[in-house]
Amino acid sequence: MKELQEKILKEGTAINETVLKVDGFLNHQVDPFLMQRIGEEFADYFKNRGITKVFTIESSGIAPAVMAAIKLDVPMVILKKQQSKILNGEVYQTKVTSFTKGTSYELTLSKKYIDKDDKILLIDDFLANGEAAQGGIRLIEEAGATVSGIGIVIEKSFQPGRKKLDDRGFDVYSLARISRLAKGVIEFVE
Ligand code: G4P
Ligand code: NA
Ligand code: NA
Repeated sequence: MKELQEKILKEGTAINETVLKVDGFLNHQVDPFLMQRIGEEFADYFKNRGITKVFTIESSGIAPAVMAAIKLDVPMVILKKQQSKILNGEVYQTKVTSFTKGTSYELTLSKKYIDKDDKILLIDDFLANGEAAQGGIRLIEEAGATVSGIGIVIEKSFQPGRKKLDDRGFDVYSLARISRLAKGVIEFVE
C-alpha cells in the first residue's frame, strides 16, 4: 500500500536494526483516516472468503481491525492479554511470549464470541516473530473455527514471523513489508 509506505518513510523512525517507531499514526496517536483506508484495503483483499468475524489482539490492532470489520459488515473481537490463567471453562487461553518485549501473557478469548462455523480474518499492527499471530491461530483452531486470512499493517520481513505463517499455508496480506531497518534507514521489500 503506497500511501502507508509513504507515511512510514515520512513519520516513522527506525531506532535500531529491529524496531520501527510509528507512534504518530498507529501505536499511540492514531490517524483514523489512514486506518479507514487500511481497513478498506484488507476488506477488499479478503472480500470473497466468507469472513464472519474480524479478530485482533489488543491494543494497536483494534483501529485497523474495526475499520476492516465495518467494511466487511461483520463483528470485531479483541483477543485480550491477561496476566494469568483464568480457571473456569468459559474462555480459551494460550500463552504468548514476546521476544521484542521479553514478556509473556495469556491470550484470552471468551467462548461466547466464537463458533466452529466462523471464518476469521485475523488483523494485527505488526508481524515480527509471529508469536502473537500464532497464539491467535491456536485459539481460533481450538474453537474449531477457521483462520481464513491474516492481515498485517506492517510486516518486518527480515524477522521469522512471515515465513512461519507462509509455511503453514495461511494467506497473509501485509500492507507494508520492511526488508531492512537501521538507525535512520527504512527499506521495503522489492
Ligand atoms: P510477534 O508477536 O510477531 O512475535 O512480535 P513481538 O512479540 O516481537 O512483538 C511484541 C509487541 O511489540 C507487539 O505489540 C508488537 O506489535 C510490537 N512490535 C514488534 N516489533 C515492533 C516494531 O518494530 N515497532 C513497533 N512499533 N512495535 C513492534 P504489543 O505488545 O502487542 O502492543 P500493542 O501495541 O498492540 O498494544
Ligand atoms: Na500489536
Ligand atoms: Na504494537
